[in-house]
Amino acid sequence: MRALVTGGAGFIGSNLVDALVERGDDVLALDDLSSGRSANLEPARGEGARLIEGDIADSALVRELVAELKPQAVFHLAAQIDVRRSISDPGFDLRVNVGATLNLLAAAHDSGCERFLLASTGGAIYGEGDGRELPLPEDADRRPDAPYGQSKYAAEGYVSLWSRLYGLSTAALRLGNVYGPRQDPHGEAGVVAIFSRALLGGEAPRVFGDGEQTRDYVYVGDVVDAFLAASRSRAGGAFNVGTGVETSVLELGHLIGEACGVEFEPRLEPARAGEVQRISIDSGRAERELGWRAQVSLADGIAETAAHFRSGSEGPRPAG
Ligand SMILES: NC(=O)c1ccc[n+]([C@@H]2O[C@H](COP(=O)([O-])OP(=O)(O)OC[C@H]3O[C@@H](n4cnc5c(N)ncnc54)[C@H](O)[C@@H]3O)[C@@H](O)[C@H]2O)c1
Repeated sequence: MRALVTGGAGFIGSNLVDALVERGDDVLALDDLSSGRSANLEPARGEGARLIEGDIADSALVRELVAELKPQAVFHLAAQIDVRRSISDPGFDLRVNVGATLNLLAAAHDSGCERFLLASTGGAIYGEGDGRELPLPEDADRRPDAPYGQSKYAAEGYVSLWSRLYGLSTAALRLGNVYGPRQDPHGEAGVVAIFSRALLGGEAPRVFGDGEQTRDYVYVGDVVDAFLAASRSRAGGAFNVGTGVETSVLELGHLIGEACGVEFEPRLEPARAGEVQRISIDSGRAERELGWRAQVSLADGIAETAAHFRSGSEGPRPAG
């Protein structure tokens, strides 16, 4: 299958590209390398995958590229993912996460694409889970706390509209807190990567608030499998991709400490405004309709992640 993966040099995107190449797809990754790294694609490029460095918000480039490749499947993962930046510059977040999604949808439809999948978000769309029955199903109220969640929700709306208006087969995968090899340990998000790097470097990880806040952590290999399952299906709408299990930051830290062979002794700092206290998502729909459910236990996934960071394969901090 000819596949286009936007954000293919990023954490989840590059793991997905590896899996697509392994299943025999002809893969093109489009990425501006703003947070992704071309090194993430070295193994896949050795097997024939291609990387085009460019901006998904550049509609002429997207049209040209899509018209030339005629992808049968588009995996749209490129995004502005920084929640704080979405608050300080919501217009930029809107242009990248919504405007560029429209560019891609139009180009994909015009070129005869058979399946369009959007990487959406579980946590940031639903908002605070405290006081609600967890795990949340797809039809739970959407109450984003930041422009990032709102822009993903708006993008989901356009993606499903393109199905109704033009018959393009689309779906949105609402991902939980994804972790695993290649996650950026230098960013604001990605607590497993950040803790692993700190603990292996002999530093005390910072925990904001009391550490009792919970998230639904899902291993990147499971997320890749969800994209593969969704690409084989024609089911539409939104699918939660998580474990349904809440894990607190402190529990997570202790598990990472065990995997790294280091005592987890965090530095507690004041809670950050706008962080949700509890969240987990119910992936029953993905199980029923895509035949997907998370397979990797948190302990096993963390062990894989710690081994990756121990080997130093995340490389130096990107410039800028
Ligand atoms: N990591 C998570 O926990 C998580 C949770 C929910 C949803 N998601 C979604 O999954 C997708 C991938 O996230 P990730 O964690 O792999 O982050 P990432 O930053 O590693 O990947 C995003 C990729 O998109 C590229 N990119 C950004 N803006 C671009 C642009 N304008 N043009 C071309 N490329 C651009 C970046 O260089 C990067 O390679 C995103 O859409 C994100 O919103 C991630």
